[in-house]
Amino acid sequence: MTATTERKRGRGQRTALVASTSSSSSSSSDIAGNPFEQTTQAASERQDLFNDIAPVYDQLNDVLSLGLHRAWKRATVKWSEARKGDTVLDVCCGSGDIAQRLSDRVGDKGTVFGLDFAENQLRRAAEKMEEKTPSTSNETNTAKITWVQGDALDLPFEDDTFDAITMGYGLRNVRDIPKALSELKRVAKSGTKVAILDFNNSRDETTNQVSGFILDNVVVPFAKMNDVEAEYKYLRPSIERFPTGPELVDLALAAGFEEATHYELQPGGLMGCLVCQV
Ligand SMILES: C[S@@+](CC[C@H](N)C(=O)[O-])C[C@H]1O[C@@H](n2cnc3c(N)ncnc32)[C@H](O)[C@@H]1O
Repeated sequence: MTATTERKRGRGQRTALVASTSSSSSSSSDIAGNPFEQTTQAASERQDLFNDIAPVYDQLNDVLSLGLHRAWKRATVKWSEARKGDTVLDVCCGSGDIAQRLSDRVGDKGTVFGLDFAENQLRRAAEKMEEKTPSTSNETNTAKITWVQGDALDLPFEDDTFDAITMGYGLRNVRDIPKALSELKRVAKSGTKVAILDFNNSRDETTNQVSGFILDNVVVPFAKMNDVEAEYKYLRPSIERFPTGPELVDLALAAGFEEATHYELQPGGLMGCLVCQV
């Protein structure tokens, strides 16, 4: 794992005031205003997309990442430094993989919230939790998870609530990245770590070529075989317009985090994890 960029807020650095603006543009690929903000229509299409792929999402992840997404998610949970008894949040939880890992980590004295705006993903997450721990089971060493349907840009939680926060493959999908980061910062307690896993928009041309080749020649054709081609075609452009590691670090500091480090994950730096501290 390589830390590409690590920075602390400089003395006198101002916390960015983030205005969440929306646009009525009708194109799903339009960028509204700043380069890290997209239209509300794009966000709504993204919500439909994640509802549609919910039934096949886990299998596709396993096949397309050769199971590696499990290791990347494990690393993300570790970087969040969630501890026994903590109250923790997984934003853009999808079908709940990371939230379940958090639940194991904080144990039965802890509390986990998994938040997503796609109802079908949350339904799948609840089913998976039930399969793992049937209601008849006496197993008590994991935290109960509360699934919340909500928007990462307007988190339905009080300020200073969480001891650790994770987000997996969500930041690239939100309409307004600066706003999402400032919401994560708002609901985190002082000292909390926020670990954000996503594809890495690398500055290394070879990494990007490898990533593009895999997406075009493996991911999209395989998704086509599963009737979700359109849903996976958006991946490559979404990675290309995602901030690079150093840009993510700058955005995190502008959102008010005290420290931010971006790690490139193996193999090949294809994934990245932004770890921020409040
Ligand atoms: C690629 S999936 C990742 C799911 C899960 N974290 C994982 O790693 O397997 C992205 C998730 O982000 C959710 N999402 C995107 N934008 C969101 C928003 N503004 N608010 C809440 N959830 C959002 C989608 O519904 C989707 O479930």
